[in-house]
Amino acid sequence: METLNYIETTFHEDIGADVLKGLTAPRKSIPSKYLYDARGSAIFEEICRLPEYYPTRTELSILKDAAPAVMERFCGGDIVELGAGSSLKIRTLLGGLPAGRLQGIRYIPVDVSIAALEASACELVDLYPGLELLGIAADFTRHMDMIPAGRKRLFVFFGSTIGNFDEDEGAGFLKGIACSMNTGDLLLIGFDMLKPRAVVEQAYNDSAGVTAEFNRNILRVVNRELGADFDLGLFSHRALFNEERGRVEMYLRAEAETVVNIGALGLEVGFEKGEGILTEICRKFTREGIERTALDAGLAVTAWFSDPKGWFSLVIMERRGRQGG
Ligand code: AVI
Repeated sequence: METLNYIETTFHEDIGADVLKGLTAPRKSIPSKYLYDARGSAIFEEICRLPEYYPTRTELSILKDAAPAVMERFCGGDIVELGAGSSLKIRTLLGGLPAGRLQGIRYIPVDVSIAALEASACELVDLYPGLELLGIAADFTRHMDMIPAGRKRLFVFFGSTIGNFDEDEGAGFLKGIACSMNTGDLLLIGFDMLKPRAVVEQAYNDSAGVTAEFNRNILRVVNRELGADFDLGLFSHRALFNEERGRVEMYLRAEAETVVNIGALGLEVGFEKGEGILTEICRKFTREGIERTALDAGLAVTAWFSDPKGWFSLVIMERRGRQGG
């Protein structure tokens, strides 16, 4: 990679406080960001290829069609990808550029995983030898200030990752991006739309058990980082669609009464048989909800791309009242 900026993350310090808070609350939880260590991120890539997990392939098919229109609106500057991961989606977006229009475009992936940044940079440089790159190893929910300003920017936030934030976090996140956007900047963001329960539940309960493995990995992370003794075999994966709240809730359910020691915290946590730990929420969206949240953040929806079934949407947002200079 041309340049790779690093920022020290406080992963270890955070995890202690987060796990203490989550596992001593009346309804136990562990923040979903701890699903994504190197192993968890690799399992997530596997999830994206599962037949039941429709979001990735649906978003990619929309992006393939929409890429020329998006790149037409963006006439050069920085493409900032938040939570970059693999390079597949950005390659698809760049595929919308007319040949020879790469000049003046710099790609800025932002991801906590340096390994993911380097892998995706290698793939991109092979495909686009002229592409300028600036990788930023940082947590984009906290370090937006590391992203260079001064050029026109297209922010991209794929995968409906915004659905892993609750309503307040999602609204706050959009406001944060809106604040750092200037006139003419664009935000391209993916949303998984509300759909029948069966489709959604299958996507999070795949028959090969990959999502179950992904979910249980969070206990491995807690064991490793905090010297805990979770017995992974005692906890089973549950993903239920909470229709009232329009979200999938992913739990680890204790299959027997047990006590877990968390060495680094000097804490013992008791579990009743059947008790769950909430490990992730995955919100599903409606068009009205998206437009309302955008408006509250000071953004306007200026383009909408979807698949024929309306299962997923890619949306362009711009600062309200400041479009076009
Ligand atoms: C990363 N995120 C958008 C995924 C989702 O669908 O909410 C995470 C995931 N969890 C289980 N399967 C996929």
